[in-house]
Amino acid sequence: MNFDVAVIGGGPGGYVAAIRAAQLGGKVLLVEKENMGGVCLNRGCIPTKTLLKSAEKWEELQRCAEFGLRAENTGFDFVAIMERKNKVVAGLRGGIEQLVKSNDITVVYGAAALIAPNLLEVTTDSGTETFNANKVIIATGSVPSSIPVPGRELPAVITSDELLELTQVPKSMLVIGAGVVGIEFSFIMKAFGCEVTIVEMLPTILPMVDSDLVKRMGLILRKQGIKTLAGAKVTAIEEVQGGVLVKADTAKGAQEFTVEKVLLAAGRRAVTEGLGLDVAGIEYDRTGIKVNTHMETSVPGIYAIGDVTGQSMLAHTASTAGIVAAENAMGLDSVMDYSAIPSCIFTTPEIAMVGLTEEEATAEQLEIKSSKFNFAANGKAVSMGETDGLVKIITDAATGKMLGMHILGPHASDLIMEGTLAIRNRLTAKDIAHTIHPHPTLSETVMESAHGIYGDIIHQVKLKLRK
Ligand code: NAI
Repeated sequence: MNFDVAVIGGGPGGYVAAIRAAQLGGKVLLVEKENMGGVCLNRGCIPTKTLLKSAEKWEELQRCAEFGLRAENTGFDFVAIMERKNKVVAGLRGGIEQLVKSNDITVVYGAAALIAPNLLEVTTDSGTETFNANKVIIATGSVPSSIPVPGRELPAVITSDELLELTQVPKSMLVIGAGVVGIEFSFIMKAFGCEVTIVEMLPTILPMVDSDLVKRMGLILRKQGIKTLAGAKVTAIEEVQGGVLVKADTAKGAQEFTVEKVLLAAGRRAVTEGLGLDVAGIEYDRTGIKVNTHMETSVPGIYAIGDVTGQSMLAHTASTAGIVAAENAMGLDSVMDYSAIPSCIFTTPEIAMVGLTEEEATAEQLEIKSSKFNFAANGKAVSMGETDGLVKIITDAATGKMLGMHILGPHASDLIMEGTLAIRNRLTAKDIAHTIHPHPTLSETVMESAHGIYGDIIHQVKLKLRK
């Protein structure tokens, strides 16, 4: 069969690309080897956020006296929590299948490989089939990476994929890697009573996050009872009665931890194997498939998007790149813009960030100004009982142009869009400060922080120097 566009992979990159190509009048083939929705829907964003919601509700229930409420005989059923998660995922998956179908996209469930630049071989349960495609978009995503540590193959050592299938909360868990996956799962499991220790190789947890937020998150983790150990390298994992013994080299010398489970959260790697990239002559390396700003690979007419490119491994980056690739495949001229990609960490409270951190701006030797505003001084946050956190804004010192926004606090993942829009459209902190924000809302924290760039915060006690 002949198609205008064949998309390999039905994640948030692939299915969006397929729909966009179909919207532009293309005859589209979408090949998926497992489930529609990819990692994001089946083993990532959606299941984790569903579990996090249960965790948050459970924690709120335990705090209910603070709000004048009484709840007796409370508890949770982990199996029911997991079942709800499965139901949410299945419902959304059905939605995507419906979307794809309504766009007249041909879906084949199987593993695709290029046997020539315009020819795909798809292995399904019932054999192999070949398809011709004028243009190909590769969107095969990523999988958790392993680490070169003896014992990593033990059954007690799991990745986020297996953790999402647990039917019982482990008594204790050591998390290797204090990145996004490590921190998000630590919050979820701790809420359900698991004793969590996070071990991070680099000198700080959340190495990609602005250091002011990292400091606050460190305090929040401590308050939650989650132990963190930065600058520590796991050297071996051994099976012992009831779990595993984890050995690590730390600044204080060798340390050992006995835990029921180990979560490997040391990054993800692009899925490039088995795709026939060499046969088609597509350039790639350990980090992923090389693409230009049109999302085109080294072979004209073959595009790659999302995690498989190794750049900004986020669902929304993949979807945006999917639209760019599909438009180019259908003859338009679209360019991928990586200048303002928000990224969010769904902890309690959340972290969200866009643009440069203070450390990155300093490393680039930019003259900057920064401002911070605490949620504790925001009426809405106080009424919600969620006052932990801050909004930090970074601007160009001379022009006030927004360079970065970093939020730790309630609904940070929603609030970050103001900063994203500002950076993308080259706005200044004044543009934000002089825009009327509704009261009482959390968005006022963003406005106040923007005022702070000019020294004009209203809701901040003025510190007077004694004469
Ligand atoms: P990551 O790259 O964010 O963090 C991995 C951490 O593990 C790093 O801090 C690294 O220094 C550390 N590490 C590596 N090897 C280690 C070792 N041997 N011992 C101790 N520490 C070690 O990777 P992560 O958290 O696995 O996430 C993978 C990707 O998925 C990221 O690109 C992330 O942005 C994305 N993701 C995004 C989410 C979101 O948007 N909310 C949620 C989950 C994942």
